[in-house]
Amino acid sequence: MVASAQGGGEHWSSRTAFVLAAIGAAVGLGNIWRFPTLAGENGGGAFVLVYVLCVALIGMPMVLTEILLGRTGGGRADAVGSVAEVAERSGRSRRWSIFAGVEVLAAFLILSFYSVVAGWVLYYVWISGFDFLGALFSGSPFAPAFEHLTQDQVTGLMGALFGNPGQLLLQHAIFMAVTLAIVASGVHGGIERAAKWLMPAFFVLLVMLTVYGAFTGEFGHAVSFLFTPDFSKLSPVAINEALGQAFFSLSLGSAALVTYGSYVPGDVRLAPTAGMIATVDTGVAMLAGLMIFPIVFSAGLDPAAGPSLIFQSLPVAFQSMSAGALIGLAFFVLIFFAALTSSISLLEGPTAWAMARFGLGRKVTALLVACGAFLIGGACALGYNVWSDVRPLSFWPIFANADILDSIDGVTGKLMLPLAGFGLALFTGWRADRRLIEVESGLSPAMFLLWRSLVAWLAPVAVGLILLFGLFPSLLA
Ligand code: PFF
Repeated sequence: MVASAQGGGEHWSSRTAFVLAAIGAAVGLGNIWRFPTLAGENGGGAFVLVYVLCVALIGMPMVLTEILLGRTGGGRADAVGSVAEVAERSGRSRRWSIFAGVEVLAAFLILSFYSVVAGWVLYYVWISGFDFLGALFSGSPFAPAFEHLTQDQVTGLMGALFGNPGQLLLQHAIFMAVTLAIVASGVHGGIERAAKWLMPAFFVLLVMLTVYGAFTGEFGHAVSFLFTPDFSKLSPVAINEALGQAFFSLSLGSAALVTYGSYVPGDVRLAPTAGMIATVDTGVAMLAGLMIFPIVFSAGLDPAAGPSLIFQSLPVAFQSMSAGALIGLAFFVLIFFAALTSSISLLEGPTAWAMARFGLGRKVTALLVACGAFLIGGACALGYNVWSDVRPLSFWPIFANADILDSIDGVTGKLMLPLAGFGLALFTGWRADRRLIEVESGLSPAMFLLWRSLVAWLAPVAVGLILLFGLFPSLLA
């Protein structure tokens, strides 16, 4: 193991371990559930183009910024301590770390609802697992999915799940417990080991399913849908949404990358790693689109079905596909793996912060954080049934109709992530000691200038605009 520049604390055992864990943090429900949904709802190609620009010009530089802040403040595993340390070493106020505090809180809140959605995925893993076993034991492993159900029954599975608070809470609890078990086992023995198994398995499944979709579904239609830009569909709201999605998908503004960055050994070059995380994350989002839409189109389904796309539309498609039972199971296992490596990073950020703040051990701290997130997530789950009338932010026009889960998703995605990103971009671009971060970045002088200009100028302006228009869309009217 290589010691970090500042020493102390826990570390990744190799660059590969870090890269896998960071890619695991980035690749998640955001890529497979949210990205195709948003692309579908916002007309495809034009949205994808804006999304890619957001990732390249703002997301990627911000990934480097966050990892770099983590490592520069190294030895202080938590995000708040790391940023405070960099501020101090730059002769600036430690108060800049408030933005890292916003990140920690955002991660905690995202974890709470992320685990609920991942619980739905887990439910679909169960039912497709039983379905596949049924097909296997009846001697037809390549049967379509849910042969014994009607199409209405398959579509109704989601509604039935949502109407059952006990089942929702159970799934949520199981997912949170698995996440907790991994984080409690530490950076090396838990997070790193999970990423080393889950990420390769994820990629194998992703490639297999995309190839299957390419040969059996309407691949050409999917390609033109995803990559032909129709700018008439590109509303300002869609642009907002693209930048917000870039933040969420890259795990920016939510403590994960700063915290993971603090475990990076001093000899790892950060810039290529940041480039790789952003590129792979975006590639996976595209592949997920190319995996899902051929199936959606060949089953004659609506690409703009919204959040129910993968839970309602796809199971119907699997029902009319040869080997649908097996493909359906592989699909939900794939999403489960992706969700798990992300939720691990969501729990790690707040846990590292609370360990540093309250001086408790990793296991107890992770348990307390997970229990807190479980309770808030529990409220989100009940928002689909017993509390379905509750609109927690009804006083705020843009969230007036949002149920509990959507409210937390909205406040984190539209407010907290951009706010934290805005603050850390300003800090790194204008306040952090230039020489300190130049050395840490390992960039050539020209690349350093480019990166710092993007972080100092473009990121705060663009992110400031999403904040403004995201919160007050009437300004655009
Ligand atoms: N990037 C994850 C996804 O795309 O699903 C979600 C996420 C993970 C957001 C970790 C924030 C975070 F800190």
